[in-house]
Amino acid sequence: MSFKTRSFPQAALSSSPSMLALRRTTSTPGLSHCRPTTSLSRIILQPSSSSSLTPHRQRQRQFGMLATLPPPSTAATILGDRPLFNRQGSSSSSLQQTQVRSMSSTRSKMPDSAASNTASANPSSAKPTSSSSSSSSSSSSPHKKALTLETINQAVLQVEYAVRGELAIKADKYTQTLDAGGSAADNLPFTKVVTANIGNPQQRGLDQQPITFWRQVIAMCEYPDLMGHPLADKIFPADAIARARALNKDIGSTGAYTHSKGILSVRQKVARFIAERDGVARETVDPEHIFLTAGASSGVAQIMSVALQEGQGVMIPIPQYPLYTATLANLSCKPLPYNLTEENRWGLSSKVLATTLEDARKANVRAKALVVINPGNPTGGCLSYDDMKKIVQLCYDNSILLCADEVYQNNIYDRQNKPFYSFRKVLMEMEDENVRNGVELVSFHSISKGVSGECGRRGGYMELVNIEEDVVDQIYKMASINLCPPVTGQIGVDLLVDPPKPGDASYELWNEETSATQQGLKDRSAYMSERFNALPGMSCQPAEGAMYLFPQIEMPEKAVAKAKEAGKPADVMYALELLDATGICAVAGSGFGQEDGTYHIRVTALCPGVEDYVKKIETFHKDFMAKYA
Ligand SMILES: Cc1ncc(COP(=O)(O)O)c(C=O)c1O
Repeated sequence: MSFKTRSFPQAALSSSPSMLALRRTTSTPGLSHCRPTTSLSRIILQPSSSSSLTPHRQRQRQFGMLATLPPPSTAATILGDRPLFNRQGSSSSSLQQTQVRSMSSTRSKMPDSAASNTASANPSSAKPTSSSSSSSSSSSSPHKKALTLETINQAVLQVEYAVRGELAIKADKYTQTLDAGGSAADNLPFTKVVTANIGNPQQRGLDQQPITFWRQVIAMCEYPDLMGHPLADKIFPADAIARARALNKDIGSTGAYTHSKGILSVRQKVARFIAERDGVARETVDPEHIFLTAGASSGVAQIMSVALQEGQGVMIPIPQYPLYTATLANLSCKPLPYNLTEENRWGLSSKVLATTLEDARKANVRAKALVVINPGNPTGGCLSYDDMKKIVQLCYDNSILLCADEVYQNNIYDRQNKPFYSFRKVLMEMEDENVRNGVELVSFHSISKGVSGECGRRGGYMELVNIEEDVVDQIYKMASINLCPPVTGQIGVDLLVDPPKPGDASYELWNEETSATQQGLKDRSAYMSERFNALPGMSCQPAEGAMYLFPQIEMPEKAVAKAKEAGKPADVMYALELLDATGICAVAGSGFGQEDGTYHIRVTALCPGVEDYVKKIETFHKDFMAKYA
């Protein structure tokens, strides 16, 4: 029986005080009176004080980070042995870069503290600086802004995050123009913006359906009167009510802090999930080594900030998800890139890994950790069991912490031929007991991807394996500073690791909904790669998992030259022109890192109306190639 179409029987419910309260707070007429007259996003993103800033600085303010051009070469970025991009997006010498780094390392001794101390000790001697951002509104005031680009943590200026960078900002502007209507909208060559740049499955326009079971349980956890209502069993399936009751018993109010590692009963369920997934005994997975997190991103940031000392290196795949370079920049640590092999479905090369380690050694950089993203973002590649064993062995041989980003473990297109193996499983199956007990592994999972796509709820977990107990204590201490992960995110983890089972009242609908999501992704992905491969000047490795495609563009020399003139990587220019012509927002490959001389874009396989979407890319691509032939 399907519960999807059930709705509240209005007449029956209207007399209940609790239902009246619910209706008061949720019905559309009730909400309309409190609809803000000014858009909240405008208030946050466009403070009036920013109006005097250049568009570039406004962007910096809006995003709290620099939306600069990506580095021309990741290898150059790591070791500082080749020109880097400074924060104006122009090339800077490695010496300048070193200066920036050393500024960040000695930030307590920055002129800022000296200047502001002087100012407060002797106000009459303080003069407003020429910089508008650091001077007071009144020219006679001795006040100086505490925060300017020169005085904030300089490591922040090194952070880049292409997924939400220049292209996404321009796409937002187009959306606003279209929403506003009028002649500006009419003059655009498209009628909608397609957000193919970000793996945000439930975003408006992508519209992956939330799983009904999730929403039912979360609704009852948030508003427990619902499950006690006499009509509850007509509205909700029995297993959803039972789950909400169990969670409510463990959690109490969803507005309360929980344990800093997350709700114990949810961590116990995660332990059971891991044991069943990997075929190991339940007792071998310790819930005390499982931390619930506000999405995988916050787990990654927590681990990196505990694990790394300034200047140390982390091996990261290229292309990579920019969370890693951004986190490392913020910690003044160094990415040590290892290129994936595109022609081998973005697989690993032992030779490349060895070279990366050797380069780090020569540069006197300690390779402290190694990140693997499996299935890969942006590549869509799934690692083979043998490749994973090689990684584990390398980590053992070189005393390297293994960080396994496994957020796409449930987005697998061919479970028979290219299944997902967790690094935990591979580690536990290594022949050498010293390796099994030695390699330190942190793996990350999330409610953001898979079939749930509940990324706005911020839920995930990380499991620590073979980490010294006193280090686990330090990680716990640091997690405690943030008090606890969001409670609905934690409920999401419960639902992720313990979905309805065959025979449960919700199973049929759950299966229908999740299978449709899986199939949709798989079909769109296959269709897109096939069509991309048929295009002259474009090639695309078919994805084996995740939610993206990363086609390579044979960039015409004229396009490269034109982009160079404009101070942009050629794939950024390609993606900008694609956006201008079609409204499709992709991310340029340079934002993820790519082998020198190659150019890519990343598009998601989440967009409905895929035929139309691909057709637009095809037409644009042909025109682009002809324009720069
Ligand atoms: C590889 C990878 N890791 C981590 C994340 C972040 O996930 P979360 O939303 O759980 O923080 C993403 C998001 O796209 C991702 O692609």
